[in-house]
Amino acid sequence: MTFPTVRNRRLRASAALRSMVRETSLSANDFIYPLFVTEGTGVREEIASMPGVYHLSLDLLEEEIREVASLGIQAVLLFGVPDHKDELGSEAYGNNSIVQRATRKVKEWCPDLLVVADTCLCQYTSHGHCGVIRRDERTGRVDVDNDASLELLVKTAVSQAEAGADIIAPSNMMDGFVHAIRAGLDEAGFEHVPVMSYSVKYASAFYGPFRDAAHSTPQFGDRKTYQMDPANVREAVREAESDVAEGADMLMVKPALAYMDVIRLLKEQFDLPVVAYNVSAEYSMVKAAAMQGWLDERAIVLETLLGMKRAGADIIITYFAKDAARWLQQR
Ligand code: PBG
Repeated sequence: MTFPTVRNRRLRASAALRSMVRETSLSANDFIYPLFVTEGTGVREEIASMPGVYHLSLDLLEEEIREVASLGIQAVLLFGVPDHKDELGSEAYGNNSIVQRATRKVKEWCPDLLVVADTCLCQYTSHGHCGVIRRDERTGRVDVDNDASLELLVKTAVSQAEAGADIIAPSNMMDGFVHAIRAGLDEAGFEHVPVMSYSVKYASAFYGPFRDAAHSTPQFGDRKTYQMDPANVREAVREAESDVAEGADMLMVKPALAYMDVIRLLKEQFDLPVVAYNVSAEYSMVKAAAMQGWLDERAIVLETLLGMKRAGADIIITYFAKDAARWLQQR
């Protein structure tokens, strides 16, 4: 019997004592804020399934960027919502495409704010897949062609780095993408630009609102031939191992909430920084309930983000970044 010698409540007796023995903390430095940039002028259109998140045209981006920086957030993740889509996703790698232009602007306004570029084709392809589609004439099988997609993804990453992106974050889940992108960046003289790999990305229903926002729902089939099966965790180690071997600088787990075990596992098994992506439906669920008055949004959000850190995340990509940074200042 340990009671009453061991009394765990002793260290919970006051706020000061609790803060002294606190194991995990949250700060604005932990967050990356995702933004959806779009063509046109005067566009500030709220995404229906993500209240508080907007499509922004470049003329309205500056104010947003300055606000993010003033809150102490160190990085934004840029997603492009282009006007034009085609089979090969050519707007993804055009020098004057939306993300490339947005990147140049952000670096002009706030040179110290890090720009993370999401390297994928799905917002830019007419079919909505993350790579190039190929039909095998012999078998009639239609799928994303891994190696042909790599070429375009490398072009995309290099054009993003040329525009000034500080971190390249490939989210396409092709095999060998970290190696290909690393080699392409090095060859173009961007050997100093880190790769934040979406190493463990599950084929998840939690991306639903994002696909509304980015207009990137696949027009046929699904992403299960390239994104991971939610049932698997040993496979997550294989994915991370190959990315480490290929030169990844950071490892991401996505989504976060239903995959906290995977975050913990990667933290224990690898010594690279672990990034958790608190994805769109994780945001929308909390927002919807908060709008009904069913929960205390601030408390729920801070507890959730803290939970991700406690699980092992060093960095969290979250649509709550601005709110959370503000709430942390008020504490
Ligand atoms: C692009 C990409 C997706 C997300 C980030 N990058 C969508 C997808 O894979 O379908 C999802 C982000 C979110 O849900 O917040 N491949």
